[in-house]
Amino acid sequence: MDIQQRYVKVKQLLEKYNQSHLLTFWSQLNEKQKHNLLIQIEQLEFDRVEENINRYIKNPAFSGLPKNFSAAPAYPAMPQTAQQKEKYEKAKKLGVELISGGKVAAFVVAGGQGTRLGFDGPKGDFAVSPVKNKTLFRLSAEQIAAAGVKYNFQPRWYIMTSPLNYQQTLKIFKRNNFYGLEPRSVFIFQQGTEVNFSADGKILLAEKDTLATSPDGHGGSLKALYKSGAAIDMKDRGIEYISYFQIDNPLINIFDPLFIGLHAMDKAEMSSKAVVKTGPFEKVGNFCLVEGKIKVLEYSDFLGDELLEKKNPDGSLIFSLGSIAIHIISRVFIEQLNIKGFDLPYHKALKEISYMDLLSGHVIKPQKENGIKFEMFVFDALPLAHKSIIIETLRSEEFAPVKERDEEGTDNPATAKRMMIDRAAQWLAQAGIKIPRKPDGSIDCRIEIAPSFAICKEDIANKKDKIPKIRPGDVIYLE
Ligand code: UTP
Repeated sequence: MDIQQRYVKVKQLLEKYNQSHLLTFWSQLNEKQKHNLLIQIEQLEFDRVEENINRYIKNPAFSGLPKNFSAAPAYPAMPQTAQQKEKYEKAKKLGVELISGGKVAAFVVAGGQGTRLGFDGPKGDFAVSPVKNKTLFRLSAEQIAAAGVKYNFQPRWYIMTSPLNYQQTLKIFKRNNFYGLEPRSVFIFQQGTEVNFSADGKILLAEKDTLATSPDGHGGSLKALYKSGAAIDMKDRGIEYISYFQIDNPLINIFDPLFIGLHAMDKAEMSSKAVVKTGPFEKVGNFCLVEGKIKVLEYSDFLGDELLEKKNPDGSLIFSLGSIAIHIISRVFIEQLNIKGFDLPYHKALKEISYMDLLSGHVIKPQKENGIKFEMFVFDALPLAHKSIIIETLRSEEFAPVKERDEEGTDNPATAKRMMIDRAAQWLAQAGIKIPRKPDGSIDCRIEIAPSFAICKEDIANKKDKIPKIRPGDVIYLE
């Protein structure tokens, strides 16, 4: 088909779906730009676009609370009964076997735009460690390499970027020599995008020949793993389990034998780690059980605050477990999700989106929210799994997200640094090392433990002779 025939076809399509404005600048475009615009429009799945407009923009029905639901059951952080203790021991053993056998891969989603952090570049390049100022990418890479040494296997790392930060991410990895990892063992790929809309459901143009798009959310990773060939690559290498994490959590424990072992023993398809929320309204998703399926419900899904504040007789919150975006996903589950037609729900977000003004032909950078983005969330795949387990973990051990720039509140670089020091001190103290403290009880030194030294607290015990005496005010780096 020549360009004119394609134009006629696209024009009819756009008329049908009330999006004809996308051709406003057609007569001003050169051949290359015309081709560029047509391709983007031809690739759109218009039925889905229409469904999104009707479902989320024009008639946004409240998708909130299901009728019957309760708090989700979870394995406790520490086993409570002899039987549980035995199961945890077996799970750990199985987890170690699976890791050493090369059955588990690391998978990080790093395609976000880090708007709240306001960092110029991929968030993975943000420096956060308390002594050596290592970046989030480096911390993960070093942990993966250390796991390879500890469990004697060749680790494989899958990294999802967005089309916006793919090239930059590649450059960062090359510039850093893949942080010492074998370049062939790192598989970097891109997630998909979704078009952006104006508040009244019109697709926005970013340029005269370009639709406004944004990454399709971390839930898009479950589609991108398949589309990019990562899932096939895993299959070819005998990888059965994917350890999913987000790039902005420097406390992540990527190869956790207990978590992996429990997931495998229980024949789960997608499993999660949870922490006890800091309070009823902490901005994390709530683990719930809805008609026998694990679901993560967000604060906005709950009708009013009452339910979230409800307590058990012992004073603990009923909905106490928050999602921290750490999952084990079976590779086969990814395949099934995609083979039967990938279908995660969308979440709508109002954002400031630059757009091409149709009247003036100029790009407008709005100062307030003007448009709509659609994203998919990874936890929406949980209820699609036949079996899904949750294990509680300690926040101080595994969760210190770097989200905000503002150092006043939580989830910012300062809190993450502090938590890295606290965890290091805790690991050392548990091995009997004396940690200097100020009169108010706070830690009076700065410690960073390199993954090459320890990737979990148990690793400290046989390295005690390598740890110097720590004096007040010391800066200690253990590697
Ligand atoms: P967040 O939802 O916290 O987004 O992502 P963000 O981009 O890091 O920060 P804000 O919201 O713009 O301030 C959680 C994790 O999911 C990844 C991010 O890279 C981060 O690891 N993510 C998010 C993607 O990989 N793709 C996306 O489209 C969105």
